[in-house]
Amino acid sequence: MVHLQYYSVAVSLLLPSWVAAQNCTLQFDGRVPSDLVAADFDSPNKFFSEKFVLGQGLKFDQALRVLPVAGGSLVRSAHPNDSSIFNSQVGFRRAELIPASNDGTDPSTQGVKTLHFSVKKDAARPLNLSHEYQLVFLESNDFSTNQFVLKTGTILGQNTADPDTLQVFGNVNQGQLLFSTPFVDGVFHNFALKLDFDQSTTQVFFSAGEDPLKAVTDVLKNDLSGQGQFHFGVLKKPVGGQGDITKNGFQEAGINEGIIFGGIFEEDSADGCITLAGQKA
Ligand SMILES: *[C@@H]1O[C@H](CO)[C@@H](O)[C@H](O)[C@H]1NC(C)=O
Ligand SMILES: *[C@@H]1O[C@H](CO)[C@@H](O)[C@H](O)[C@H]1NC(C)=O
Ligand SMILES: *[C@@H]1O[C@H](CO)[C@@H](O)[C@H](O)[C@H]1NC(C)=O
Repeated sequence: MVHLQYYSVAVSLLLPSWVAAQNCTLQFDGRVPSDLVAADFDSPNKFFSEKFVLGQGLKFDQALRVLPVAGGSLVRSAHPNDSSIFNSQVGFRRAELIPASNDGTDPSTQGVKTLHFSVKKDAARPLNLSHEYQLVFLESNDFSTNQFVLKTGTILGQNTADPDTLQVFGNVNQGQLLFSTPFVDGVFHNFALKLDFDQSTTQVFFSAGEDPLKAVTDVLKNDLSGQGQFHFGVLKKPVGGQGDITKNGFQEAGINEGIIFGGIFEEDSADGCITLAGQKA
């Protein structure tokens, strides 16, 4: 018997006008037009899966909000709460989006691809930095690993010097930290991960705000095998868990937390094409 307590974690998706001018061949595009409403995400749509990842019985209609922002674009807000328990994972709170075409064995995890996303704090819904959060990750098709993870907060099993940091880790089996940067208030943090699935390498590009992306790492060896699905949202881990922390550990009740997302897309970089535009909104 699972007792559901009501609290909320919010994930916001911003309509990213700043990448509209890119020219590389797209693999998938999560930049949603402004006439979509939250309920549209509960039916098959060309942007994100209508099924995953939400708490049992929840709908994106309940979990997504649409907010106007300056310049006429929109913020889309995914809004998990105390019911955001997926697959009986009572240790976690989860509300994530997976690209509609990304079924786990599709070409988004083959060849050479560059994954783009921008994240910003939701000032009205601060995270609790005593916890570890996964904001973006690739989960292998057999669910045995994450080939990369963007985390923030207090990383379990590590000494986190400043939990208010965005940290990109490589494959969690090796746990290599690829890049970290302070999670600054009020600004978009733009990431591009160039993922070479043939060579198993990862290169991180980053910029803040409107600045163009710049390579912030070399091309790093990183085990990308296993294909899988890209997750964008909030996966909040427990504190004080033992063993299988999907099933235990402490999660406080009544939370109201969120992260704003924008500019989610993946392009084909087999020919070296990569979009370097920063935020232009
Ligand atoms: C979560 O939100 C849904 C939709 O608003 C609501 O039906 C459900 O009762 C909420 N759960 C909690 C624990 O607040
Ligand atoms: C896209 O291609 C057009 C036409 O070649 C060019 O003018 C424009 O600068 C390109 N945009 C980007 C973001 O590279
Ligand atoms: C943050 O999380 C910890 C552990 O769940 C909890 O004890 C604490 O009350 C939370 N702090 C805030 C400000 O919510």
